[in-house]
Amino acid sequence: MRFVGTVLVVSALLVARVEALNNGVARLPVLGYNAWNAFHCDVDEKLILETANQMVALGLKDAGYNFINLDDCWALKNRSNTGDLVPDPVKFPDGISGLVTKLAAMGFKTGIYSDSGLSTCAGYPGSWANEKRDLELFNKWGISLLKYDNCNIPSDNITRQNAIGRYQIMKQAIADVAKESGKPPIIFSLCEWGQQQVWLWGKTIGQSWRTTGDISPQWSSLVSIINFNSFITMATDFYGRNDMDMLQLGNGNLSLDEAKAHFTAWALMKSTLLIGTDLRNVSREVVDILTNREILAINQDAVVGTSISPFRWGINPDWTSDSLHPAQYWSGPTQDGVVFMLLNVEDTPASVSFNLTESPWIRAGRQYSVRDLWSHTDEGIVISSFSRDNVPPHGVVALLLQDAGDSPEPKEEPEAQPQPECSAPCSPSAVSSASRRTRIVYADLLAYVMNI
Ligand SMILES: *[C@@H]1O[C@H](CO)[C@@H](O)[C@H](O)[C@H]1NC(C)=O
Ligand SMILES: *[C@@H]1O[C@H](CO)[C@@H](O)[C@H](O)[C@H]1NC(C)=O
Ligand SMILES: *[C@@H]1O[C@H](CO)[C@@H](O)[C@H](O)[C@H]1NC(C)=O
Ligand SMILES: *[C@@H]1O[C@H](CO)[C@@H](O)[C@H](O)[C@H]1NC(C)=O
Ligand SMILES: *[C@@H]1O[C@H](CO)[C@@H](O)[C@H](O)[C@H]1NC(C)=O
Repeated sequence: MRFVGTVLVVSALLVARVEALNNGVARLPVLGYNAWNAFHCDVDEKLILETANQMVALGLKDAGYNFINLDDCWALKNRSNTGDLVPDPVKFPDGISGLVTKLAAMGFKTGIYSDSGLSTCAGYPGSWANEKRDLELFNKWGISLLKYDNCNIPSDNITRQNAIGRYQIMKQAIADVAKESGKPPIIFSLCEWGQQQVWLWGKTIGQSWRTTGDISPQWSSLVSIINFNSFITMATDFYGRNDMDMLQLGNGNLSLDEAKAHFTAWALMKSTLLIGTDLRNVSREVVDILTNREILAINQDAVVGTSISPFRWGINPDWTSDSLHPAQYWSGPTQDGVVFMLLNVEDTPASVSFNLTESPWIRAGRQYSVRDLWSHTDEGIVISSFSRDNVPPHGVVALLLQDAGDSPEPKEEPEAQPQPECSAPCSPSAVSSASRRTRIVYADLLAYVMNI
């Protein structure tokens, strides 16, 4: 029965238009914390509450980071006699519902983790064939978000499901439980590592989808994720987005320039932003990067939901996939202007420069004011091009350009040399070049009139 039902659901899905789910939740990227990158399985209520306190004390909560998400390893290895997941009573003495209550009192929403297979990646029970039961429990506990992993999945030749089918069942459970309980649907964060081109269908099932395997706290991992995602930016918009994985700022040996590039790319590509470092001794510099309000404002733009995209790859020919040297020149629209991200993907300082109209959102014949989103300074007016010298290795430049009116009158074109009186027969090239000039002027005039 189950398998027949799934086949029907999947077939219906395939003929449906690929439109974002829009069930009212997660219109904008989720901002919050997940302890996995810093602590892996080594988490308990004490750590989570200390982290929540630090989120408040460091100003992260004020900056908008209002989710605290559990990852793997919160449960016991066996379900209860009645088949329910059981929170580990040593790690979580008040259960998950107790934790949710304490976090809610501090103004946080809580996310939880499960797996679409038989067991999670760390060997705890998965939700396969228990989707509705687990969702009811999470809903009862007051959970707001589910990260749903992809380990230990039963063989497709037994389930006849594949990833779409497995994630579709949980989507349905979320919808059913929301309807039955009258509470908002739980935000569904797909974590199947980009398999089966999830960016083509993820938005019909959940609000975000991981596009790659796990991130690690090294530059090589960051640029390989940026490179991969540079080709699928069109999948991201309100209610559904590529998830580039949890932030590694503060971890490993990332330099501050690398951390800034990391944060800029993730935020402007409208990824979910989950802090993943030990907040008990995080540096002020890392907190300052995470709370860059001008960049966060673009991540949370309520008018424009799309990602920045590359307009030029830079040291590589356009559309080249290079996991160490991804596209360098990016732009995108925002409610306040056109945002640019320029990456120095080389290991030495470098200059970056571009012509404004390389970006499709820049209008020819206009001038633009430039705001530097890292120095937080106004950089004056630019007319046709921008350049910056000495961008540090693995550094980033982030700019917001705002239309500042017509550019100054272009220099008067030199008078066309009077054609020498032609003795018959007159040179055809002189005639055609004069009439071409007339056509160009006419086209400009027409474009001008149509713009008014
Ligand atoms: C979990 O249940 C299995 C049987 O389903 C049993 O063999 C195993 O000992 C149990 N593990 C724990 C930790 O209770
Ligand atoms: C299912 O697939 C697995 C590996 O993909 C294979 O080892 C197994 O024999 C298959 N089983 C059936 C019933 O086809
Ligand atoms: C970080 O470590 C990697 C690998 O050991 C090394 O190649 C890289 O230069 C280091 N980065 C920094 C900023 O120290
Ligand atoms: C941060 O603080 C925790 C707890 O006080 C400690 O265990 C950990 O080693 C510290 N980490 C660093 C990088 O100092
Ligand atoms: C920028 O504009 C100049 C002058 O029009 C042109 O020579 C150059 O090729 C352009 N560069 C790019 C990358 O488009």
